[in-house]
Amino acid sequence: MLKLEIQAGRTLLVSGPASVRLEEGLVNIFGAPIHRRGRFTVRREKQIPIEIVEDSKVDVEFGERATYLEVEGSTVPDSWREATRRIESSGESKILIIGSTDTGKSTFSIYLTNQMLKNKKRVAIVDADIGQSDLGPPGSIGLSLVTEPLTELEGATVEAMIFIGETSPSRVVDRVINGILKLETKIPYGTVKVINTDGWVADEGAIEYKVRMVERLEPSLVIGLDEGGELDPIMSRVKTSKMKINVPKYVKVRSREERKHIREHGYRRYLREAVYRNFLLDRIEAADLLDKKPEKGHILGFIDSEGFMVGIGIFESLNRRRGILRAYTKVDFRKVSRIECGSIRLTPQGQELPFSIDQTWKNSR
Ligand SMILES: Nc1ncnc2c1ncn2[C@@H]1O[C@H](COP(=O)(O)OP(=O)(O)O)[C@@H](O)[C@H]1O
Ligand SMILES: [Mg+2]
Repeated sequence: MLKLEIQAGRTLLVSGPASVRLEEGLVNIFGAPIHRRGRFTVRREKQIPIEIVEDSKVDVEFGERATYLEVEGSTVPDSWREATRRIESSGESKILIIGSTDTGKSTFSIYLTNQMLKNKKRVAIVDADIGQSDLGPPGSIGLSLVTEPLTELEGATVEAMIFIGETSPSRVVDRVINGILKLETKIPYGTVKVINTDGWVADEGAIEYKVRMVERLEPSLVIGLDEGGELDPIMSRVKTSKMKINVPKYVKVRSREERKHIREHGYRRYLREAVYRNFLLDRIEAADLLDKKPEKGHILGFIDSEGFMVGIGIFESLNRRRGILRAYTKVDFRKVSRIECGSIRLTPQGQELPFSIDQTWKNSR
């Protein structure tokens, strides 16, 4: 264990896996105060900046390959502060955040939310980054109505979810946009909406998609996390008011393997307490599922009567003659009106399997 004494005004950057405990002093993370003697963990693929507000004593326990760095000042860019001020002073009601992968989109959502909560605003976060979901499992869109400052999105209470079943948006662009619009119906009047999106921004398809998203969602402000003009093709076509902000200097870039690991952690959280269950298809809508000819391992979305996702599961088998579907899930059949099938394939341990041959063929068309 490492005992650190750090002066006010500095920032301790901790990359997990690590466990941190504030012994003395006052610190915050993205504007969320950390209570004294509280212990919190930093997961393997994550990095958090602990801002030292008053001279503090911090104990850090490091796991394998964890690192830390002390820097002067804050790691929150000035442009983030400016954007937040502008959002608050002009009373923006719906902010859409776009940017490539690992540019700080999720982090800016948290930072902005925490600042607005300080001013007694009610804030809703919609997380539509289906590949790196913080709210809900990967392959879904999640909504959280935030009431307390957050240090990470993952722990926030999820109010509602939409099943997509894919980790890449390219083949499901309208489903993602429709899903966001549907989740918005659950947000109480007068709540500021913060919408986080996926990192697909570079090619022609991505530009079309993001421009369409802006046109259909009609945000009051589009925030672009831009490093070197990569968002210009999108931003130049956006008619709504917009603002570019900086990618933080200390942003942590994740490898492909780490991104996969984050997703698997996400599936596992929603497969905890899962067992093999039978679903009688005479009372459940499953046309889409039957159409897709699922194979063992395909992800299933269990949908309630309003169209929201109750949970996920893994397809095991189907007895077409008897109309019985067997799945590995924690979802109770009584909550389910419809079952959908996605193209993600998983083991019961929540590990991703490669696409099946049939699926690859379908994808390439
Ligand atoms: N201002 C910042 N200071 C320190 N670390 C940051 C900052 N912004 C982002 N990070 C770290 O960089 C990583 C990637 O940021 P994230 O918000 O998850 O990016 P995105 O959502 O665009 O993929 C995260 O581990 C996050 O904690
Ligand atoms: Mg993110």
